[in-house]
Amino acid sequence: MSATNTKINYNIDWIIPSLRNPSKFWSIAASLTIACVGIFSKILIHWLNKSKVHNRHYMSYALHDRPRNVPLITISNHHSCFDDPGIWATLDVRHLLSKSVMRWSLAANDICFTCTSHSYFFRLGKCVPVIRGNGVYQEAVDFCLERLANGEWVHIFPEGKVNVTKEDMRLKWGVGRMIFESPVTPIVIPIWHIGMDEVLPNYPPYMVRIGKNLTFNFGEPLDFTEMIRTMKERKLTDVEARKEITDSIQAALRKLKVETEQLHQEYFKTNS
Ligand SMILES: *[C@@H]1O[C@H](CO)[C@@H](O)[C@H](O)[C@H]1NC(C)=O
Ligand SMILES: *[C@@H]1O[C@H](CO)[C@@H](O)[C@H](O)[C@H]1NC(C)=O
Repeated sequence: MSATNTKINYNIDWIIPSLRNPSKFWSIAASLTIACVGIFSKILIHWLNKSKVHNRHYMSYALHDRPRNVPLITISNHHSCFDDPGIWATLDVRHLLSKSVMRWSLAANDICFTCTSHSYFFRLGKCVPVIRGNGVYQEAVDFCLERLANGEWVHIFPEGKVNVTKEDMRLKWGVGRMIFESPVTPIVIPIWHIGMDEVLPNYPPYMVRIGKNLTFNFGEPLDFTEMIRTMKERKLTDVEARKEITDSIQAALRKLKVETEQLHQEYFKTNS
């Protein structure tokens, strides 16, 4: 028990300042880390497992052609600790290997930032330590808002944790805050994936597996610009606005889940 406590109490205060003002060393090390993780994921997900990607064009378009000032938020279900970076193995290599293009990702402090070596690794991989249970007004969310203001890409697992039963979970409202408060309303792309928990099961020995069937489905981009405009006219409180936005994301993810399950079934049945 004391071991767990010391782990959770690992000091992470240096991480976000270091993400804000990286030294040259951190920048170079981060570029290398992103590229290595990208190559590893590409090999594992694309070559050693059987992946079917649907509607990748939504994502390619957002990465390649969105205006410079328009930020991107991706949201997805969370089935394994390899979901991110695994999902990005579906991207073009030029995006996958580029530190400036790749996402910022919120990662739980008590899982990814429990000791020095892990903290270095995840910090280099553009992961931002979020403290679960600390609500929407915390430094990690503020930091993501700064990145969004700069037109960058932030990925979120709005369920907030890996759900091994894969039932519907209530989404966290941090995503609602980011979308509502971002100076330019982000393009939001929902993603549903199936099979990642077989590539990296959620039980020991936590080793990656090969030869699994994977489906990745990118949903149609969600545009909240109009919704936010009317919310402001209706003078909704921040809490109400966050809730409405989060609810509509939940609805979009549910719909995408049903569609993806069907695609997965059909594809892997007819290709046997
Ligand atoms: C997953 O979500 C379901 C439904 O909300 C819940 O009953 C279950 O306890 C969750 N599992 C985990 C591991 O959180
Ligand atoms: C993958 O799908 C094929 C059918 O396309 C099936 O024969 C095979 O058993 C599946 N593999 C796994 C690991 O589920």
